[in-house]
Amino acid sequence: MDYRKPVIFGENWSPSRYRVLPYFAVEKEVMQRPRSQMILDLGCAAGWNMSRFRQYGRHPVGLDVVPDRVKLAAHHGPVAIASGLQLPFAAETFDVIYIQHVLHHIGDVPQALAEVYRCLKPGGSFFLIETSEDSPLIRWGRRLYPKWLGDEVNAPFYFASLQTMLAGHGFQVQRAEQYSVLFWVWEIVPDQLPFMEKLTPLFVAGEQLLARRWRRLSAHCYLVAVKGRTED
Ligand SMILES: C[S@@+](CC[C@H](N)C(=O)[O-])C[C@H]1O[C@@H](n2cnc3c(N)ncnc32)[C@H](O)[C@@H]1O
Repeated sequence: MDYRKPVIFGENWSPSRYRVLPYFAVEKEVMQRPRSQMILDLGCAAGWNMSRFRQYGRHPVGLDVVPDRVKLAAHHGPVAIASGLQLPFAAETFDVIYIQHVLHHIGDVPQALAEVYRCLKPGGSFFLIETSEDSPLIRWGRRLYPKWLGDEVNAPFYFASLQTMLAGHGFQVQRAEQYSVLFWVWEIVPDQLPFMEKLTPLFVAGEQLLARRWRRLSAHCYLVAVKGRTED
């Protein structure tokens, strides 16, 4: 995805893409809970996720360190230029903090998790989506290409270690799932060669076959954790 362009969730994507990305349904359920009102998209880039949360009927706040990206994200709601290592919010501000593919860029992961914990209300939800080095292709790819769209990758994760890490920071992991064996390739190819988007249904069918057998080698995972208590 090109973070230099305005972006709205759902544009230029064939509907079959959604079938292989299970986190959409889960995040929608979390965000549409009655108490999920104050939502932070930490590392919002140009606001792709924010535009989707608005489609769920929510009014998220976006935050990112890159001013040009934040300027684009401002089309989808209030935004802040700041670091996830020092959130400019009072303690217990948010019902949901959402972080997609940001922790592996952030540098000081324990500090970032401490900030998430501080800014979540008790019982609030932390929704984390990460790349996982359980996939040998991701491991090798990172060695060859240690940056993603120009941003340094400085904290590789494994699915199991992410769960342990969240528990170590006081979160209770409610849900954790691996997904996307090869589908991540499709984040790159049609971006570079738009006509390839037409082949998505074929690629989705292949991904679903692979996932049945190789999900444990998946390149992506998501986790839903709560601060302090596990009701609702
Ligand atoms: C791979 S992009 C993901 C963007 C978006 N979350 C998504 O899912 O499309 C990573 C984003 O994290 C941001 N980022 C990196 N370090 C950060 C930090 N310390 N605080 C806040 N955002 C950061 C980058 O500027 C970039 O926009």
